Amino acid sequence: MRMALYRPWKRCPVVRIPVIAVGKLSIPEVAEKIIAEGQADIVALGKGLLADAFWVKKVEEGKPERIRPCIGCHDGCMGRVMKGKPLSCAVNPATGRESSYRLVRAERPKKVAVVGGGPAGLEAARVAALRGHEVILVEILKDLLIGGLPVQHMNRLMLLDLLKFHKVEVLTQTSLLEVLEDGALLIDHELRRRYSSADGIVVAVGLKPERGLYQALRNQTPNLYLIGDSRNPQNVMNAVWDAYEIGRMI
Ligand SMILES: Cc1cc2nc3c(=O)[nH]c(=O)nc-3n(C[C@H](O)[C@H](O)[C@H](O)COP(=O)(O)OP(=O)(O)OC[C@H]3O[C@@H](n4cnc5c(N)ncnc54)[C@H](O)[C@@H]3O)c2cc1C
Ligand SMILES: Cc1cc2nc3c(=O)[nH]c(=O)nc-3n(C[C@H](O)[C@H](O)[C@H](O)COP(=O)(O)O)c2cc1C
Ligand code: SF4
Repeated sequence: MRMALYRPWKRCPVVRIPVIAVGKLSIPEVAEKIIAEGQADIVALGKGLLADAFWVKKVEEGKPERIRPCIGCHDGCMGRVMKGKPLSCAVNPATGRESSYRLVRAERPKKVAVVGGGPAGLEAARVAALRGHEVILVEILKDLLIGGLPVQHMNRLMLLDLLKFHKVEVLTQTSLLEVLEDGALLIDHELRRRYSSADGIVVAVGLKPERGLYQALRNQTPNLYLIGDSRNPQNVMNAVWDAYEIGRMI
C-alpha cells in the first residue's frame, strides 16, 4: 500500500472491510470523487461539520455552494479544546452552543450601517441582514475583503453571495464622514456625499488598532459599535465572533 495524502492513496487489495477516508475532505467534489472512484467506501468529515452542520443536507439538495467552508485554522475547534474551553468554530460562532446562540428575527427591523468590508464587517452585515435588518455596507477600497489578509477563495465567494442574497447594499470607495442624529453621512472617493438613514453603526475598519474613527464619533450616538481588529487586532475567529455578537444583538 502506498502511503500518501487523500486521493493518490490506493486501496489495499487484501483489505476486505469497509475503508473510511478522513482528513480535509470537506470540499464536496473531492469527497464525491473518492467514493465515485472507489478509493474508499466512506468519507468521514470532522471540521467540515463544525463549520457547517448542514453540510450533508446541502450536498444532498445539490446546493454545495451554500456550505460554509472550514478555513482549517483550528482556532475555534482544537485550539479551544486544548485550552480547556468548549469546542466551537471560528467561522461559525454558534457551533457547540446552537440553542443559546441561535439567530432570531429582530422584533423591530432597523437600518444598520456597517463601515469596513473585511471579515468582521461582512459577518456583521450578514447576521444583521439575516435577522431582518436593512443593511448598508461601506468599504473605502475598490472591493470587499481585499484590505487585510487574503480570505480563502471559497469563503470569499460565499460571503459575497450571502450579501447579495440578503440584499445588503454595498458601497465601495466610500467611507463614513459623520454620524448624524438619524443616520450616517457617507463620502466617496470623488468627495461626493450621501446621506443614509441608520439606527445603528458598526465600525469594523480593521487591521491596525485604528480606533480614531470610533473615538471621533462615539459621543455622537449611543448606537455605535467597534468590532474586529479595529477593536483589538487578533485573528479571523475573533473578528467573526465579535461581528456575530453585534449582529445577533443589534
Ligand atoms: C500578514 C497577516 C497574516 C494573518 N494571518 C492570519 C491567519 O493565518 N489566520 C487568522 O485567523 N488571522 C490572520 N490574520 C489576522 C486577520 O487578517 C484579521 O484578524 C482579520 O482580517 C480582521 O478582520 P476585520 O474585518 O476586523 O479587519 P480587516 O480585515 O482589516 O478589514 C477592515 C476593512 O475596513 C476597510 N476600511 C478601513 N478604513 C475604512 C474607512 N475609514 N471606511 C471604510 N472602510 C474602511 C479596510 O479597507 C478593510 O477592508 C493575519 C493578518 C495579517 C496582517
Ligand atoms: C476538535 C477536534 C477533536 C478531535 N478529537 C479526536 C479524537 O479524540 N480522536 C481522534 O482519533 N481524532 C480526533 N480528531 C481528529 C478527527 O477525527 C479527524 O481525523 C481530523 O479532524 C481530520 O478530519 P477533518 O479534516 O475532516 O476535520 C479531532 C479533531 C478535532 C478538530
Ligand atoms: S475553527 Fe477553523 S479549523 Fe476548526 S472547524 Fe472552524 S474553521 Fe475549521
